[in-house]
Formats: sequence, structure tokens, C-alpha cells
Amino acid sequence: MSEPTGAARRRGPFKVGDQVQLTDPKGRHYTFTLEAGKNFHTHKGSFPHDELIGSPEGSVVRTTGNVAYLALRPLLPDFVLSMPRGAAVVYPKDAGQIIAFADIFPGARVVEAGVGSGSLSAFLLRAIGDHGMLHSYERRADFAEIARGNVERYFGGPHPAWELTVGDLQDHLSDTEVDRVVLDMLAPWECLEAVSKALVPGGILCCYVATTTQLSRTVETIREHGCFAEPQPWESMIRNWHVEGLAVRPDHRMIGHTGFLVTARRLADGVEPPMRRRRPAKGAYGDDYEGPGSGSR
Ligand SMILES: C[S@@+](CC[C@H](N)C(=O)[O-])C[C@H]1O[C@@H](n2cnc3c(N)ncnc32)[C@H](O)[C@@H]1O
Repeated sequence: MSEPTGAARRRGPFKVGDQVQLTDPKGRHYTFTLEAGKNFHTHKGSFPHDELIGSPEGSVVRTTGNVAYLALRPLLPDFVLSMPRGAAVVYPKDAGQIIAFADIFPGARVVEAGVGSGSLSAFLLRAIGDHGMLHSYERRADFAEIARGNVERYFGGPHPAWELTVGDLQDHLSDTEVDRVVLDMLAPWECLEAVSKALVPGGILCCYVATTTQLSRTVETIREHGCFAEPQPWESMIRNWHVEGLAVRPDHRMIGHTGFLVTARRLADGVEPPMRRRRPAKGAYGDDYEGPGSGSR
């Protein structure tokens, strides 16, 4: 059986072309690509890449200034936080929630928009594997190029399950059946009609939005649309802990807010959902709101 794309790059001793993440004595990270004959320079001296090539992950290298650095391959969460960005990325904690609660499985046919910097694309591709299909849509050609570069750098080349289209999802999405749709954009409600045509009965729509006003409009529009079961909104927070001797307490700092998530299941055609329908209060979204499918603010 052939290995999944990128797996060989993440196993065995360090090789030329591998990404390396160094950690210094203060816990700071530095990422670079291994090249034969090159030196890695710090303000406390340098060391040759050749010293790492052929060494196992978890090796320690010393600079000419005798500072020790731990060398590991970056994990996907490390990679997406240090890669070049066009738009804001989906944070690893939210990507994990999306993979779990949008039930992204090996072999799944998934649609995603927008692609932004490609953070979520990389998590989705890893979850669906080489035999799934990820159709990604991004309206900005410059962001799509950044995302393509990031994804190909992570997987060591083009991913066989990835198709990236430049354009608005609602204008380009075909009716070809898909199992899951993940939307990370300003106005996901503009895409509901197109999404409802592509999503299989029982399929999952997952929306990631940054603000409460977007969350409210997304949930209400999904409810109003008629093709979806009751949407489930939530957010997640991670609180890291400091554990040293008797000082066992939450860290003083944390990421307080990234975004909100909403999932909703696609109903079978012509079905009335067995739950109470609630309409948004009149004027809740201002005078321009004309109901589901109306334009963004
Ligand atoms: C926050 S970024 C996405 C970040 C991305 N999920 C990641 O993890 O790197 C939102 C992106 O959606 C794109 N976008 C907004 N509306 C869109 C639409 N209707 N169709 C396609 N792309 C859209 C924007 O150009 C922007 O790049």
C-alpha cells in the first residue's frame, strides 16, 4: 500500500528539503528548510545544516556560541501559525473542532470557501486523505496563490485530492454531490442556496465566523432556508496551564477569541423539520435585510 501524501516527509532522520523547527533555551521557535552545505545563523553563532541531515528528530545542535537548540519537524499546528499569510487563518484549536464536529472522514468529498492562507485546507486534506476530494474556492487570486504555496510546502508538492478554484463559491459551485461544506468567510449566508444544492441529505454545513452579528445572521438564515435541520452554534477556548512545583495555575495569557462555529445537517428534499420555527425579530438586521439569500451588509 502506498503511503499517504507527505507521510514520508514526516518520518525517519532529517533529509535535505525537510522543514526544521528549532526551539531555543527561552522556548522561541525558528523554522527553516534543510539544504546541504548551508549554515543556520543566529545572533549567538551558527551551525551547519549538514549536522542535522541524517540525525533523528529530537536532536540537539549547538551553535558556535555554544547555545543549544532542539530540532524537530514542525507539526501542522506549528506550520500554519508560522506560514506566510494573506488572510487570517483558522487556528488549530478551531480546525480541530471543525474536523471533529463537521465529521470530516477519510475519503470524504468536501467543499471549502474561502481558502485565505490555506490553513484549514491543509487540515481538511490531511483528514480526508489521498482518496477524498477537497474542492476549495477563493475569490482573491493573490490569496489563492499564497494558499497553494503553503499547502504544497506542507505536503511536499501538489496534493492529489485538492482542487483550488479562483472565484466566488456561490457562482462556481456545481450541483455535484458532496458530503461536507465548510465556509470561512464574511457572509456565509450568501452561499446557502448553492450549498443546499450540492450537499447530500444528512451532509453537514459548517460555518466559521468572527463576530456575533455574523453568527446571528448565519444561524437565522440557515433556520429560515428550509433545507437544514436546527443549526448548532458554539465557540471553543483553550486555557493553558503553568505547572511548576506548587505554582499550578492557569497561564496569565490566553487567546480570548478566534471565532464562532455553526453546524447544520442537510435535510432530505421536501421535508419539514420537526421543530419550532422561530423568525428573527423585525428589523433585527437593519432595513436592507430581506430574508435568506439577501446580500451582505
Ligand atoms: C478568513 S479568510 C479564510 C481563511 C482560511 N480558512 C484559512 O484557514 O487560511 C476568508 C476568505 O474568504 C474569501 N471569500 C469571502 N467570500 C467568498 C466567497 N463567497 N467565495 C470564495 N471566497 C470568499 C476572502 O477573499 C478571504 O480570503
